[in-house]
Amino acid sequence: GTVVLAYSGGLDTSCILVWLKEQGYDVIAYLANIGQNENFEEARKKALALGARKVYIEDVSREFVEEFIWPAVQANALYEDRYLLGTSLARPCIARKQVEIARKEGAQFVSHGATGKGNDQVRFELTCYALWPQIKIIAPWRMPEFYNRFRGRNDLMDYAKKHGIPVPVTPKCPWSMDENLMHISYEAGILENPKNQAPPGLYTKTKDPATSPDTPDILEIEFRKGVPVKVTNTKDGATHQSSLELFVYLNEIAGKHGVGRIDIVENRFIGMKSRGIYETPAGTILYHAHLDIEAFTMDREVRKIKQGLALKFSELVYNGFWYSPECDYVRQCISKSQEMVEGKVRVSAFKGQVYILGRESPRSLYNEELVSMNVQGDYEPSDATGFININSLRLKEYHRLQSKVAAK
Ligand code: ARG
Ligand code: SIN
Repeated sequence: GTVVLAYSGGLDTSCILVWLKEQGYDVIAYLANIGQNENFEEARKKALALGARKVYIEDVSREFVEEFIWPAVQANALYEDRYLLGTSLARPCIARKQVEIARKEGAQFVSHGATGKGNDQVRFELTCYALWPQIKIIAPWRMPEFYNRFRGRNDLMDYAKKHGIPVPVTPKCPWSMDENLMHISYEAGILENPKNQAPPGLYTKTKDPATSPDTPDILEIEFRKGVPVKVTNTKDGATHQSSLELFVYLNEIAGKHGVGRIDIVENRFIGMKSRGIYETPAGTILYHAHLDIEAFTMDREVRKIKQGLALKFSELVYNGFWYSPECDYVRQCISKSQEMVEGKVRVSAFKGQVYILGRESPRSLYNEELVSMNVQGDYEPSDATGFININSLRLKEYHRLQSKVAAK
């Protein structure tokens, strides 16, 4: 049969490609361009040299921004209070295109190089099954005949040498990385001991805040329906309006100022804790800016409900349920909540931090006259006396009981 393999160009998926051929499969290699730093043409040549019948290099970066990152920005999506979900959001986007290719090619199989211990296998496969229920998935790292043969990197290297797979010349970083337009993650290897600090040379998307520029960049970010539509740098007036270009520009500015680094221990869906280091420059700026414009324009009670939905959304995305009925429903609710989330936020990026400097909006619920200490506005201060009296009823009764119980 024919298999579409999610190929990265690295050692693991190169060995998987050759191994699949060895098992008698006709292999089509698929490499998603999702904004990572990579030599795609090198990878194409490599896959063909290893025996792939065909290679697809698909640029999905714009759809990644518009269909996956924007809903996350609207939600203020955050997993376990810290992780902006860079990898979690990318997986359904990558797998969706893989299914599309499999359909076009009439392939019955798809394959990937995710390990049997992680989240990515779940995200890949739930997406594939949701979008093509009859699809058959080959996950070599969960097949004894594969993992008993390749027990470590040395086995992969030996196999590579034996089968003419080019072995990476530069010594591999002692950790694993996953990069896309939104973030880069570092896990495993020397980082597995959660006590070990990341070596300074690890970071690739952000400058060290300790040595980042001594003057901030001040940006004006304009939102419509909770989505950024324009970014202006007040320094030079540079503006960016298209989704992808705007996001790339924010990555550049935030990265220059060391914005978006975290080092966390998180709970994998599979049931274990894992340590990860992440850089999410543009995502971090947008998280803060969106929170601000949302607080300015959204009703208090709607906001509370939406906050609960965002928590659910984050968990669903992390666990791989993008294409589930519940995630679909939650996304629609969140999208509805964003209709009035509109306006401009001025932010400063400086020494690893995002500072909010001000905001304006034609849809703001903020009433300067109403809140002012200097003007009465459409408000009767004496009404507050009754408001407080009624609210104190319960408290008085509760404490009356407390003193009675204590007296006994
Ligand atoms: N722990 C993060 C997540 O589950 C990052 C996973 C990185 N994946 C990888 N194949 N290195 O979203
Ligand atoms: C992997 O297991 O392939 C990477 C880590 C993860 O998916 O959580």
